[in-house]
Amino acid sequence: TLEIIVVSIAGYLIGSISFAVILSKRQGVDIFTQGSGNPGATNVKRILGAKWGNTVFALDAFKGLVAAGWPVLILGEIRLAVIGLIAAIIGHSFSVFLKFRGGKGVATTMGGLLAIMPLSLLIGLLVWVVAFYLTKFVALASILFAFSLPISALNLYGSADPRFTLSLMLCILIFFRHRSNVRRLLQGKENSFKK
Ligand code: G3P
Repeated sequence: TLEIIVVSIAGYLIGSISFAVILSKRQGVDIFTQGSGNPGATNVKRILGAKWGNTVFALDAFKGLVAAGWPVLILGEIRLAVIGLIAAIIGHSFSVFLKFRGGKGVATTMGGLLAIMPLSLLIGLLVWVVAFYLTKFVALASILFAFSLPISALNLYGSADPRFTLSLMLCILIFFRHRSNVRRLLQGKENSFKK
């Protein structure tokens, strides 16, 4: 239907706006050539410091919140919010403004889940925080966050719920975007925030 098309296109375009690229360019940095080369909050923090990294996280999360939030508020359908968020994460990862390059979708996922499944998000955030403080690897914390989503969604909402389908897709997308991190983790070469 028309609603699905509008929500998908809006989500994809919102997701395609890369705050990591915009803000680091204004600081004179090409984020694709620095650190991990990833246009995301983590790499901006690594290269430009916590202030800019946190700003990118907040704005990228806000993107997800908007892409998933407006279909719930205006159209009143959780199914459309799910489509909006998936579209935003695809936009964030394969941006139409960046020759289909982009980030890994973790911040955008977190923002979107606030509108769709806050309890699963909360559990995921706890997993993220514990994993990060134990290992100091953001990527490992993000991957474990992603794996926690379908597990918590299955228990909270059940396998027939669109939120479970969403969580499975998010898990696969986030894991897929962290391939280079998995490789580096296995080789013992992953960037760490250990001081
Ligand atoms: O969300 C991205 C994070 O999990 C890893 O970022 O720059 O260390 O590859 P990075």
